[in-house]
Amino acid sequence: MKYTGWKIISDEFENGNRQSKDALFTVGNGYFGIRGFFEENGEAAVGNGGIYVAGIVGKGFHKSYTGKSRELCNIANIFRVRLSVNGNGINGTEVSDFSRTLDMKNAVYSRRYIWNNSVALEFSRFADMADVHRVGQKIVVKSLTDNNKIDLYALIDTDVVNLNKVSCEPLPIQPGRDHITERKIGANSVETVLDDEDCTRLYAAQKVMAFINGKPVGGVAYADSRATGMRYGIVLARDDELVIKKVAAVYTSKYEPDAKEETAAFLRTDIDYDAVFNDSCAEWEKRWNAANVEIKTDTDDDTAVRYNLFELMCACPVHTDKVSIGARGLTGEMYEGCVFWDTEIFQLPFFIYSDPAAARRLLTFRYNTLEQARRYARELRMEAGAQYPWQVSEKGIEQTESSAGFFSVHLMADIAYAIKNYVNASGDDEFLVSMGAEMLIEIARFWEKRSIHSDFDGYYHIMTVRGPNEYSPIVDDNAFTNYMAAQNLLYAVAVADMLESDHPQEYKKLAERIGFCRSEIKKWKDIADNLYVGYDEKKHLVAEYPTYFNRYPFDIKKYKPTAKRILESGTPYDFLYFYQITKQADTVLLMCLLPDLFSDEEKKAAYEYYEPRTVHDSSLSYAPHAWLASRILKTEEAYAYFKQCAYLDINDMKLNAVSGIHFANFGGTWMSLVFGFCGISFENGVLKIDPKLPEKWESVKLNLTCRGENIHIEVSKKGVKAFSLSKDSKIKILCEGNE
Ligand code: BGC
Repeated sequence: MKYTGWKIISDEFENGNRQSKDALFTVGNGYFGIRGFFEENGEAAVGNGGIYVAGIVGKGFHKSYTGKSRELCNIANIFRVRLSVNGNGINGTEVSDFSRTLDMKNAVYSRRYIWNNSVALEFSRFADMADVHRVGQKIVVKSLTDNNKIDLYALIDTDVVNLNKVSCEPLPIQPGRDHITERKIGANSVETVLDDEDCTRLYAAQKVMAFINGKPVGGVAYADSRATGMRYGIVLARDDELVIKKVAAVYTSKYEPDAKEETAAFLRTDIDYDAVFNDSCAEWEKRWNAANVEIKTDTDDDTAVRYNLFELMCACPVHTDKVSIGARGLTGEMYEGCVFWDTEIFQLPFFIYSDPAAARRLLTFRYNTLEQARRYARELRMEAGAQYPWQVSEKGIEQTESSAGFFSVHLMADIAYAIKNYVNASGDDEFLVSMGAEMLIEIARFWEKRSIHSDFDGYYHIMTVRGPNEYSPIVDDNAFTNYMAAQNLLYAVAVADMLESDHPQEYKKLAERIGFCRSEIKKWKDIADNLYVGYDEKKHLVAEYPTYFNRYPFDIKKYKPTAKRILESGTPYDFLYFYQITKQADTVLLMCLLPDLFSDEEKKAAYEYYEPRTVHDSSLSYAPHAWLASRILKTEEAYAYFKQCAYLDINDMKLNAVSGIHFANFGGTWMSLVFGFCGISFENGVLKIDPKLPEKWESVKLNLTCRGENIHIEVSKKGVKAFSLSKDSKIKILCEGNE
């Protein structure tokens, strides 16, 4: 892989194996996620690519808690190209000078190669950030010899199936299910019906222009029973260049009530590919202005970090709050496109500080699914409050395959924590009044039901939970869960008080609507003050859960010899219960999220005790280790963890990027850099910067959005420079303790 600041470039062709990099080269705009698949022929079964639209799913076939499973659906291939040269279909065998590039500045994915020494080909594509329903594709065929007879079809092809996630290894992925039940093929447009419970109709249309050496050239319309588009039969002389420019649009009946009309309108409109591209670039420029991070270093870290941020922005819905970002974004079918705590704890902070409107939309998704969460709580026989499903569909429905989701209740704390984080950084009290307070009250009620007071020891206990360490599937008093729950309860109390005093009308309406009364608050305070957490006084060590210390030691080196998860190395899941083994950052993460509640001694003790017992079998594990290690001044150890985050997918360190790249980790990369190495925190209008940069970095420059102000920060070995770009800034900035 080559890194050039704004680009990552791979020149490995890897025929047959290349799908492992397809997800890495995804471009998107929150509506589309488009893997870096090859659009030209010769791909047959493996060429189904992966074009996903946020919230568009097909019938699911896995067992889920509610029995209503669904899976992310690979839509019609709007980039399909059939190409032959002198009657020979191009294929993957005569390829030279191959490279594929992700240009992150303009959000373009392109591939070039020479085929059979006769044509130089370039395919590029982008998802339009200015009008998210659109994508652009450009194909360049340059003749390297005389008299090349080109036959090129630029198509929308409905002959697609899902990637088959269970067949991921060995590559290539074998074809999965076909979710299209009906197809109507029109002239440069298709209408397909999906097999989901809504029988979603998906409309796709395209406009294609062709040029030879810059001069427009006509094609003929083409359609068969599955595909439609334009065909160009052309003879190219040596050095002649055929350029195809295409803009395609997609609308769906699930989210766009006028989908059919919108598609017809697109077909009636004159579309200029270059103008569409320029508008998209302008949108990306705005995003990068707010979000870019520059690292001065002689390593590739600057580009690698940018890649992490790029993919986060590609996956973030800009057009709606009806969907959120899945664990694998729109880059693969692992986890069926579902949303987890990954969003609130790992991805959201980046958006909170670079695009608060996007952060608000992501939280609004939780508000939109609150009713489902209430229903879920009742199904689970909880008489009040809301339980958000662990692995949740776009409709707010549980998709976890086992009952494990039911126990992963820290999700409630994570959502409440994220609300507090967002409101603190954005100052968006309106969100708190209109949505946040209601979510917080329902979550506080949930904790009230989930906490049990013991007359034996006088404490409250939260029993039978699965904390972030999923290798201890059912434990009592997981410190992460209990601490976070206590914070939520206290915040819910503060917000209810604020609402009553500052917004009495809204308070009254809400209280009536959800039957809330002040007496509930008293109990919340009592629980928060008396939740039990195991603690070893001598070692200053917080117990992940009280019996953790009594479990058997585990030989990680012996039983997890490779990067593969411990389960894939032959240790049965049920055996893990016996051991002191932590799947991913748990107590370590807690110390990162609530740093003020723990002394430096406790942070150090937690890191030193749990780190050697952690197997990092989740991509969510590395960032908290980098973050905490940097805060306890183990800077180079932190840097080693940071490397694992920043290059996790680029180097396919989890050996599963083929089924989608890891979005929590992308956010984690940002957090370990900003909160870890730069030591940035923001609370109550005070921005603190207390950096400890790794040896390899000379400086870091970044921008943060806090309470509507744009703050520019430069951290270097020589010191810290930070200022607000607002004229009458209200933010107090403390650099290494100095105002
Ligand atoms: C992790 C979870 C995470 C999920 C989706 C699991 O392997 O243990 O914490 O939410 O993956 O990323």
